[in-house]
Amino acid sequence: MQLFDSEYFTYKENKLFCENVSLEKIAQEVATPVFVYSKKFMIDRYKELNNAFENIPHKIYYACKANYNINIIKLFNDLGAGIDVNSAGEFYRSLKAGANPKNLIFSGVGKTKDEIELVLENELKLIKAESYGEIELINSIAKKLGKIAPIAIRVNPNVDPATHPYISTGLAENKFGIDETTAIEIFTKAAKLGNIQLLGIDMHIGSQITKIEPYIEAAEKLVKLVEELKAKGISLTHIDLGGGMGIKYLDEKPFTAKEYADAVIPILKKTDCEIFIEPGRYLTANSGCLLSEVLYVKNNLDKNFIIADAAMTELLRPSIYKAYHHIQPVNISINEEFTADIVGPVCESGDFLGKHRKIKKVKPNDLLAVMSAGAYGMVMASNYNARLKPAEVLVDNEKFYIIRKRETLEQLVQNEFLI
Ligand code: LLP
Repeated sequence: MQLFDSEYFTYKENKLFCENVSLEKIAQEVATPVFVYSKKFMIDRYKELNNAFENIPHKIYYACKANYNINIIKLFNDLGAGIDVNSAGEFYRSLKAGANPKNLIFSGVGKTKDEIELVLENELKLIKAESYGEIELINSIAKKLGKIAPIAIRVNPNVDPATHPYISTGLAENKFGIDETTAIEIFTKAAKLGNIQLLGIDMHIGSQITKIEPYIEAAEKLVKLVEELKAKGISLTHIDLGGGMGIKYLDEKPFTAKEYADAVIPILKKTDCEIFIEPGRYLTANSGCLLSEVLYVKNNLDKNFIIADAAMTELLRPSIYKAYHHIQPVNISINEEFTADIVGPVCESGDFLGKHRKIKKVKPNDLLAVMSAGAYGMVMASNYNARLKPAEVLVDNEKFYIIRKRETLEQLVQNEFLI
C-alpha cells in the first residue's frame, strides 16, 4: 500500500513516528482517538512562507480557524505571526494564547454587534468588513465607544479558484465580500464616515487552491482597485490576499510558497502597500494525524469494513466534502492487503474516514493514522452521539505534550440543568 510521504511522519523499524516520538507510545499513554501534531512542521512551513515573501513588506496572519488550540495559536504568535480570527471565540482564544490584540484581524461575513464591540474595546488591529451595512454598524459602535475603527473591506474578485464548491468563496455567487463593481462606491462612502479609518483591501477566494492562476487574476484586480482609489484620494496601506494555499493530501501538486510569492510580488509591487497573507491549512494540515484504534473488522457480503474508534465526530471532512485523507497502519508488517471501508462508530452511513481503501489487513487493537488532519480536524469535531471530544498532543522532537485533555462524561452535561 502507498504510504504518505512526509519527513515529519516516518517509519522507523516499521513503526510510525511523529518526529522522534512513536505513535504507539502516544496511543498507550493518552489513548485514542487523539490528534497528534508535529511542532517542527508548523515552524518549517511558517519560515518557508515568510522567507518566500522577504522581498516585499508583508505579514502572515495565521487563520486560526484551521486549528485553534491555544498552544498552536501561541506557536505562530511566538514565531511573529499575526492571527486571523473569525468570531469572538477565536478572538478570546488568541488573547488566551498570549497574542497582542494589535496583531489580531477579524474576518467573517456575519459579525454581531457584541463581537464588534468586544474587538473594538480591546483595540484590535483591524476589522475586515464585508458589506456597507456592516461598515455603518462598525462606525456607529465606534462612535458610541469614542473610538476610530480600523477597517479593511473584503472584495469578492469573482475568480474561479477551481476547488470544492463548499470551500470556494471568491465567486460572485458566493456570500462573501462586496462585489468588485460596487467596490469603489462603497470605499468612497466608507471613507466619509467619521469613526472609520479605512486601511486596506482584502480578499479570500477559497481554500485548498492548488493552481496559482486564480491568485494572479485576483491580485491584478485588487491592485487595479487600489490604483483607482488612490486616484480618488483614498490611499490604502495594505492588500490582504487571504488564505487558501492548497496542500498535498495524496498526489495533488500544489504550488510552493516561493512559486506563489514569485507570481504575485511583481503585481503587488506596483503599489506601495504592505501584503497580508492568511493561511490556515498550509501551516497546519500536514503537521497532524488522527490516531485511531481498530475496534472490529467485519465483512458484509463482498464488502470489508474496518470499524475504528475515530469517526465523523473527530474528522468531518470525508463525510461532508468527500475529502481524501490517507489512512495507514501505525505498525507495518508483511501481512496481506485487502480493500475496505474505514468507518467510525457513529450511527450514520455517511460516517466514514475512507472508502475502498487498499490497506494492510488489520485486526482489533491495531492502530491507524489518518493523515493530514492538522487543519479543520479538531476544530470541526462535534459531540454527536454524545461522543467525547478527543485529546490533542503536540510533538517536539523526542518529547510530547498533551495540549488538550480528552473530554469527560461530566463535561458533556455541565451546561445542562434538570428542571
Ligand atoms: N481567511 C479567511 C477569511 C478564511 O475564511 C479562511 C478559511 C482562511 C483565511 C484560511 O483558509 P486556508 O488557508 O485554511 O485555506 N472546512 C474547510 C475549509 C474552510 C475554510 C474557510 N475559510 C475544509 O475542511 O476544507
